[in-house]
Amino acid sequence: MRKIIIAGNWKMYKTQSEASEFLMEFIAQIDDAPEDREVVLCVPFTDLAIVSKSLHGNRIRLGAQNVHWEESGAFTGEISASMLTEVGVRYAIVGHSERRQYFGETDETVNLRLKAAQSSGLIPILCVGETKQQRDGGKTEQIIINQLDNGLVGVAQDKLVIAYEPIWAIGTGETCEAGEANRVIGVIRDRLTNPNVTIQYGGSVKPSNINEIMAQPHIDGVLVGGASLAASDFAGIVNYQ
Ligand code: 13P
Repeated sequence: MRKIIIAGNWKMYKTQSEASEFLMEFIAQIDDAPEDREVVLCVPFTDLAIVSKSLHGNRIRLGAQNVHWEESGAFTGEISASMLTEVGVRYAIVGHSERRQYFGETDETVNLRLKAAQSSGLIPILCVGETKQQRDGGKTEQIIINQLDNGLVGVAQDKLVIAYEPIWAIGTGETCEAGEANRVIGVIRDRLTNPNVTIQYGGSVKPSNINEIMAQPHIDGVLVGGASLAASDFAGIVNYQ
């Protein structure tokens, strides 16, 4: 059985007080959401502890946006898996395109992060996706297969989530057409050995397109950036029909 996971990625948005304000509003609006879906919030490091406290006993799961491969050490600016699990983090995004583009993340460092996350009991959300130029050049499948094959060496597929995030659809308002997202996610699924991996779509997901996206047979959830910052928008996504 593939789990449905609706996750928000706050990126570098929200102070602690803004996070608390969001939660008060958001939790009230997802009371009646069907039980078939898990809700995850991937928040900045400074928000983790406070969000963890306000989620106590709630159905929302906590996620981070990165995790280092070493347990501790002289790695200024990084965070270890045990630092995350101790504050109640269950998920960690790994290899987001913004990390790859701006912070030198490679398939090799992605692979190290995935393995470290899993060995501490975190479930990594591996992001893959092509640029506009790669898509226009007919390279989408090859790029994604390379990201998977290199990223997943030695990674257990029973404790893994994958997010297909076409880079040209991130923060642009230009959603990948649902049928096309479904097709590429089918390609990803064919490349995996475990048929039960949850595979999400990410890129300009909004309350107005969530129903169509979630109606696709291969799509098991979404990873939402901009629209996860406003409680009513993210609740509208979580409450999809
Ligand atoms: P947007 O939903 O803002 O396009 O961002 C998607 C994303 O990058 C989620 O990780």
